[in-house]
This record gives sequence, structure tokens and C-alpha cells, in this order.
Amino acid sequence: MAGRIVVLTGAGISAESGVPTFRDADGLWEGHRVEDVATPEAYETSPSTVHRFYDARRQALGAVEPNAAHHALARLEEHLGDDLLVVTQNIDDLHERAGSRHVIHMHGELRKALCRACEGRFEWTGDLGDFPPCPGCQHSELRPDVVWFGEIPYEMDTIIEALADATAFVSIGTSGAVYPAAGFVQQARRFGADTLELNLVPSDGTPWFARARHGRAGELVPAWVDEVLAGRGLLTS
Ligand code: APR
Repeated sequence: MAGRIVVLTGAGISAESGVPTFRDADGLWEGHRVEDVATPEAYETSPSTVHRFYDARRQALGAVEPNAAHHALARLEEHLGDDLLVVTQNIDDLHERAGSRHVIHMHGELRKALCRACEGRFEWTGDLGDFPPCPGCQHSELRPDVVWFGEIPYEMDTIIEALADATAFVSIGTSGAVYPAAGFVQQARRFGADTLELNLVPSDGTPWFARARHGRAGELVPAWVDEVLAGRGLLTS
């Protein structure tokens, strides 16, 4: 099968697993002002408030499972191997729990802690709100290993290289409201890749895609993966 695929995922791919999105009606940002929980300034002002927000999300991860869309991408990876890269804005671990291995978490991971003193990174499933000592340097300087607004997303060089090398770019479950991820479709097109959007409704980015299908990821993604595996091309209308 010719070609490399870069798949960008957002909160919409985890919605059917019960993980709230950000900007939908009952989205996370409904109950919280972004500035109060997802900025370095918020952490300086009240680390406890920020930890309470992320500790609750980390605990909630224990009660959810990957859905058909996550499993379909893992199935596609089994066939394409290195020719498939999943770049996710999500900080949940549902792609990996579904079996995907080639995953870049450009906004970090909820089940990791980052030490602000020694910059060590640690798998973390418990709370951080009680300011536990860092396993590396023993300082109580652990923060959620997530990228806050105003911070630089992770692995941007690797992502841009993959976009430059891609035959196809597919976006799943994202509103296209947040850069730099929202700009990936334009970059992919500039590099000559074909583009497809799979989203519940048209997004801010829809006009940039050569093709778009709207509906639930749990139906759209397995159907698209079946097409690719049936050799009906990487992207068909
Ligand atoms: N199937 C497909 N798409 C869905 C589904 C579903 N079941 N449910 C919701 N969606 C779509 C919504 O229509 C919306 O366009 O998913 C998108 C989710 O958009 P956002 O809530 O804005 O989430 P996302 O695009 O991932 O946000 C980007 O913003 O808040 C920051 O850092 C955070 O990574 C996040 C970034």
C-alpha cells in the first residue's frame, strides 16, 4: 500500500468513551475558565486549583475504555506499521490502550508527571494535589505533564517532518479552534498530501479539507479504515 498517513485526533474521538470534549455544549470549558486551570499563570496563582482539575480527569480515565474509533486506528497500524502516525491533541491514553504504538501526544499526557525542579518525567496514575515528592529529586515540584495555553506543544519538529512526508492527512474529532494543530491541514496540503476530515459536524477547518465526512467517529473511522484495508485508496469521497 503506497503512502504514509498522518492522522490528527482531538477530543471528539474520545467523546463516545465518555471523555468530555472542550467546546461542545457540555464541554470541559463550560465549568472552568481556561485561564483558571490550563495556563502557567494559573498554576503560579493556585496550584491546588489546577491539580484538582487534572486529578479529577486522571481519576475519571480509570472509568473509560477505548471505543471503536480508537480500535480501528490500532487495526490500521497493524497493517501500515510505520506508514501510519497518530498525532493526538488528547491527553488521555485511549489510543495506546486500544493498541496504537505510533502516537505523538503533542499536548502531553494526563498519566505522566513532570518535575519542575529536575525536569524528570514519571508515569503517574495517582493525584498530584497532595504535592508528593518527585521520585527523582524528592522536591515537591511535580506538575501534570500537559501542555498549557501559552506553552509550546511537544515534538513539533517530528510532526512537521511527518506532514512533509505524508501522502494523506486525516483529521478526526477536532474543532480546528486551536493552533498549531489547526494549521496542520494547510501544511499537509502545501506538501501535496490529500486531506480528509472526519468530524461530528463541520469544524472551523472544514474549508481546508479536500474531503469531509460528518458523523460519529465510532462509525466514520472504522468505515474509513475498512476502505483503506480493502485497498480502495487512502482517501475516497
Ligand atoms: N465523533 C466525532 N466528532 C465529535 C464527536 C464524535 N462522537 N463528538 C464531538 N465531536 C467533535 C465536535 O463537533 C468538535 O468539533 O469533536 C470536536 C471537539 O472539539 P473541541 O472540544 O474543541 O476539542 P479539540 O479540538 O480536541 O480541542 C483542541 O483545545 O482545549 C484545548 O488543549 C485542548 O487539545 C485541546 C485543544
